Amino acid sequence: MMDKKVLVFAGSTSKKSINKQLASYAATKLINVSYDIVDLNEYAMPLFSVDEEERGFPVNAKRFNELLNLYDGFIVSLAEHNGSYAAAFKSMYDWVSRIERNVFRDKPLLLMATSPGGRGGASVLESAMATFSHAGAIVITTFSLPNFYDNFKDGRLTEEDIRTQLKEAVTVFEKGV
Ligand SMILES: Cc1cc2nc3c(=O)[nH]c(=O)nc-3n(C[C@H](O)[C@H](O)[C@H](O)COP(=O)(O)O)c2cc1C
Repeated sequence: MMDKKVLVFAGSTSKKSINKQLASYAATKLINVSYDIVDLNEYAMPLFSVDEEERGFPVNAKRFNELLNLYDGFIVSLAEHNGSYAAAFKSMYDWVSRIERNVFRDKPLLLMATSPGGRGGASVLESAMATFSHAGAIVITTFSLPNFYDNFKDGRLTEEDIRTQLKEAVTVFEKGV
């Protein structure tokens, strides 16, 4: 019986987000854990600032914060913009961290990134690895996919060795959930 459930999302608001595609694909490799995929566009909120915060937490920040309570772990794939988080993700993360410092609720995280370039979002992945643990993430494993458009076609990874690496990462993550 699948009694554990993980939340899957991309750190992106791009409609054709390659990170959402990758995170969604990774989720299909879960065997005994079910999942929901969510899009940050469903949680649009003002850009975080302390001045904005004085007006109160946005409804969608509170909704997203509540959503995080409902799951046993997270699969997150981060878009990289200028070596860092996409602005919409960072703003959402900042808002949620003000509502609940323990953003990831001491739950397991499969942390991923992909980009069209050869570094596969390595910089944003490094930032997240260095800091998400302070926000309650138990980073079980990480996965970076370089050259997305060469390595991911028709909804799946084209190279068998990369498929194997991803499957291993998902398996390790799933054991931790
Ligand atoms: C403003 C901007 C900055 C970017 N900076 C980087 C970067 O530093 N490193 C990188 O690998 N790709 C960079 N890219 C390309 C993104 O990786 C690419 O747009 C990718 O599709 C983003 O992921 P998403 O589709 O999930 O939103 C940048 C794209 C934009 C629009």
